[in-house]
Amino acid sequence: MQSNRNSQTTGQLTKTSTMVNIWKMKVNETKKRILKALRECGGYLSGETLSNQLGTSRVSIWKHIRSLKEDGYVIEASPRGYRLVSSPDLLLPYEFPGLEQRIHYFPEIGSTMDAARELAKKGAGEGTIVIAEAQTRGRGRLSREWLSPEGGIYFTLVLRPRISPAYAPRINLMASIAVAATIRKLFGLKAELKWPNDVLIEGRKVCGILAEMDAEMDVVNFVNVGIGINANTSIPQFEKTVTSLKDALGREISRKEFLSVLLMEIERQQPLLMKADLLEEWKKLSVTLNKDVRIVAPGEVIVGRAIDIDTTGALIVKERNGSLKKAMAGDCIHLREEAPNTDIGAVSRQHSV
Ligand code: BTN
Repeated sequence: MQSNRNSQTTGQLTKTSTMVNIWKMKVNETKKRILKALRECGGYLSGETLSNQLGTSRVSIWKHIRSLKEDGYVIEASPRGYRLVSSPDLLLPYEFPGLEQRIHYFPEIGSTMDAARELAKKGAGEGTIVIAEAQTRGRGRLSREWLSPEGGIYFTLVLRPRISPAYAPRINLMASIAVAATIRKLFGLKAELKWPNDVLIEGRKVCGILAEMDAEMDVVNFVNVGIGINANTSIPQFEKTVTSLKDALGREISRKEFLSVLLMEIERQQPLLMKADLLEEWKKLSVTLNKDVRIVAPGEVIVGRAIDIDTTGALIVKERNGSLKKAMAGDCIHLREEAPNTDIGAVSRQHSV
């Protein structure tokens, strides 16, 4: 994968906050329009044609082409003009036509959750997306660390659903359905869901989802959905519970294609958020239902058969004595799959690699 980190971090970054040092890569309109023109033409475009089309000088075209090359775009310059040879597999805003202005892109960041939180607090609109190529303080569920080296896909989506806070966990279900659908659609792999919101391939975790909500008694201000996908990362042999798309497929994937299909899939699922269809879809993809589970929930441990989820996304577990318990959150261990010396509940570092 081509990477040009330093060039991306020079000259094009805007400081948007002094509090947590958030730097945003500014989407450059001229670069965006040059790429659009080169993509649409598919062949050579002279500097003069570009300059006329964009209403800017040829020197400016040349400078912006140089900057695109520094970003990792391969642009051939010949007497016939400029030709776009290839684009980098970076998750740059230019790779998501139509969404550029909603995307806050970082070559590296602490956590996209922190940046998204700050943006949402300042009023960032529904659909704002914070993307990073790598995270130095990636966060998982239950205060765990989420290892986030280059090659993975890490982003947080700001949503402002008009629902009661009690139904917010349905957003996790929706996001996990969208990830599984994307994996199935693009690669034909049988992606499945483990409650509350893990996406698995052949029983191994390939994606984790973390949602953070800001709400009042009965109004949701925002829900930030953080999604981490083990895409082109290699998982160490000893990791038996984790996989990556690269390891599952035996080849690297196009991360930008994956993210673009996933974002479309999330958009497609959103109207279903409060519909019964969402729960039905989750149940179809679930590997947790009808399994014996141990849920390590805040303040209690529930052991029994997972028999259903309720309308809020809580897991309904039938204990041995027949009583029904609801788990709203926590670690879910599928009992028959539990390895003898593996106390999953005690693992404090999660591999996204
Ligand atoms: C889990 O524990 O399974 C959830 C992992 C969520 C990781 C993603 S990566 C993008 C976003 N930023 C973070 O720091 N965490 C989430």
